[in-house]
Amino acid sequence: MRVDVVTIFPEYFSGPLDAGLLGKARAKGLLDIRVRDLRVHTTDKHRTVDDEPFGGGPGMVMMAQPWFEAVEAVDGWERARRVLLTPAGRRLDQGLGEQLSAEAHLILMCGRYEGIDERVATGLATDEISIGDYVLAGGESAALVLIEVVTRLREGVIGEPESLVEESFTTGLLDYPHYTRPAEFRGMRVPDVLVSGDHAAIERWRREEALRRTKARRPDLLER
Ligand code: 6GU
Repeated sequence: MRVDVVTIFPEYFSGPLDAGLLGKARAKGLLDIRVRDLRVHTTDKHRTVDDEPFGGGPGMVMMAQPWFEAVEAVDGWERARRVLLTPAGRRLDQGLGEQLSAEAHLILMCGRYEGIDERVATGLATDEISIGDYVLAGGESAALVLIEVVTRLREGVIGEPESLVEESFTTGLLDYPHYTRPAEFRGMRVPDVLVSGDHAAIERWRREEALRRTKARRPDLLER
């Protein structure tokens, strides 16, 4: 899968893309990520990317021109899924992640919170996506979240694909609690059923715990 990221902070991405699962996927050639500096496509000596809002008001608005030229400089951009990361977008969930993971090419546009000229959304992006109901300073961390969600769903990235089937948000329930050795730690014991060897009982316990947790923490998931 090919991913082009357009940002005014390319340095933001150097650490996270090398670590862990993303680093491995890139090393295996399953993920080809290119980070591009939006300011390369500015036209003045100060490399300006924003201007005052038409109609007035606080803050600055990112100009359409650098965004259009930056995206149009990506080979194959017309066939790519072009995602604008914005708090005004559709909220990312596992289902949307699965849909995006089937694409051959994503272009991720990292906006700043104050705003982007609406013509980028209407005339350039194919999708507008938010990662949740809170405010970030910019779309960079949201782009990293999206890349991670999508990458781990690609074939060959995760060693044990079975782990994808049982996990939260695929089953519609939160995960059950996990334990490993020792069976007692600082007076806290592992539930007896997990060391009983009774596999049917363990299955039942896990299912009940997942349900209990979901009811308590995320009743909205049960209603769906
Ligand atoms: Cl994609 N951008 C910003 N600035 N804030 C967000 C977001 C995106 N998703 C949630 N909050």
